[in-house]
Amino acid sequence: MSYLLSPLIRDRNGRDQSWLSLGAIDQFPPGQTRLSTYRNPGANAWDGETANVACWVRRIDDTTFQVFATNCAHLGCPVRWFAQSGLFMCPCHGGAYYSDGSRASGPPQRGLFQYPYQISRGTLMIRAGEMPTPGPAADASRERPPCA
Ligand code: FES
Repeated sequence: MSYLLSPLIRDRNGRDQSWLSLGAIDQFPPGQTRLSTYRNPGANAWDGETANVACWVRRIDDTTFQVFATNCAHLGCPVRWFAQSGLFMCPCHGGAYYSDGSRASGPPQRGLFQYPYQISRGTLMIRAGEMPTPGPAADASRERPPCA
């Protein structure tokens, strides 16, 4: 069914613009950061568990969240959250990020990628159709001049 409707939920650049549920907001206590998963919107039925994508959810207060990609902005290794130090740490080259996702130290040139989110009827929804591109490609895309 999504195959038939996909032209309706993609923007002019071919990005999936659908909103995906991360579940009830009650599972994310204020002041905490927790791991969550969503189903890749481009997945097929036979993809199984490989279509589940992890993300970090930080709930700041009742209605304010941040949802981070788990991929380091350097070369994409999965970052882990350490509540004791209040840092996201990357195991590959020592990249570190503050709790708000901003860069703390190491080779990443920017903070963690964030998903747009909204709350709908007590459910946290994210727009996850466009995957982040870590590394130099992400920097280059920001500097690219608009097409004439
Ligand atoms: S991939 Fe994370 S610091 Fe290099």
